[in-house]
Amino acid sequence: MVPRETQAGETRVALVPELVERLIALGHEVVVQPGAGRGAQVADEEYAAAGASLDADPFGTADLVVSVQPLDPGTVRLLPRGSTTVSFLPVGAESPYLSLVADLRDVGVTSLAMELVPRISRAQSMDALSSQSLVSGYRCAIVAAGLLRRFFPLNMTAAGTVPPAEVLVLGAGVAGLQAIATAKRLGAVVRAYDVRPSSAEEIASVGAKPVDLDLEALDGAGGYAREMTEERAARQRELLAPYVAAADALITTAAVPGRRAPLLVTAEMVAAMKPGSVVVDLAAESGGNVEGSLPGEVVRIGSAQVWGGANVPAQMPGPASRLYAHNVVSLIELLTHDGALHLDLDDEILAGACVTHDGLIRHEATRIALEGSPA
Ligand code: NAI
Repeated sequence: MVPRETQAGETRVALVPELVERLIALGHEVVVQPGAGRGAQVADEEYAAAGASLDADPFGTADLVVSVQPLDPGTVRLLPRGSTTVSFLPVGAESPYLSLVADLRDVGVTSLAMELVPRISRAQSMDALSSQSLVSGYRCAIVAAGLLRRFFPLNMTAAGTVPPAEVLVLGAGVAGLQAIATAKRLGAVVRAYDVRPSSAEEIASVGAKPVDLDLEALDGAGGYAREMTEERAARQRELLAPYVAAADALITTAAVPGRRAPLLVTAEMVAAMKPGSVVVDLAAESGGNVEGSLPGEVVRIGSAQVWGGANVPAQMPGPASRLYAHNVVSLIELLTHDGALHLDLDDEILAGACVTHDGLIRHEATRIALEGSPA
């Protein structure tokens, strides 16, 4: 079943009408809480026309609840023992959802976290981090272009030549590469930097100039970045300073899995930017790549406007929901055997995504945070 999202500002929905048929073909009944699609401009009638039924109070009988944000504790307590939830569910020792995980355990609910789906090729269709990063990256470039009071592209006219904007993108993962590609399509001159050794080639492949800082690369497990020492971080900031000062728009998207976002740009570096410059910090919610950025706000540092991202995919709820729903339905396909739900913990995708099952917390760092280490 598909509930209405209850978290403030969440406009996305976990299932779109065009995918209802796929779930029915798997042997499932689809129930939607009225108004679930409103934030994403999807009407109840569209779900009904696709074969779903509408139910205002659907939790007590649900076998599987799919949502974008974690369910609220009150809802979890309504779920039947043995039911399953699929949603984003940030876990780990620092998680704000530890007590929710304890509730899921106690109620005997199986919970799968979309951000824990392993990034292996077989799970690409379920990779919600990538699908939502794609939306965020695009949005960042559009926000930067909207805030900047000048052209992105070069204009050569009878009235003179207007030079293109210079855009600097720091962090070139899924979101950063999409920001680069979007800024390029708008005609800006784009430079970009990432700590991973493979990034220069990826940056060049979407049309930007890679910035070479002559620093050691930081490649961690699974192609992700590693956290860096404070000494290296300080050196990186020092070497980046002239590139930041030269940019009309700075877009930062750097992240290290499971850690606070790295501080790449100090307030002093922003204050040294040209009058009218703009900064878009996609990492504002996870600590910020830019000192002083605030999630969901535009603040002024020196003469630059600094925009801090807050649930950025929810700013484009239509496409973000459609992509997320594809990820969720692919995961449900993996969970379905002969029309029934079955969690096969020998499957590395399901084992990786599983937070709670059968009264146990299966995500180790979360379990230790809640229950302590075994004696
Ligand atoms: P992310 O959202 O965790 O981080 C964004 C970017 O920030 C990364 O490229 C990272 O290298 C960079 N970064 C971290 N610290 C930095 C610093 N101090 N300065 C500059 N940049 C910094 O990353 P995302 O987008 O999830 O992807 C990261 C990697 O995972 C890439 O190699 C990507 O190709 C890989 N990936 C693999 C997938 C798969 O196998 N299915 C799917 C998606 C991504």
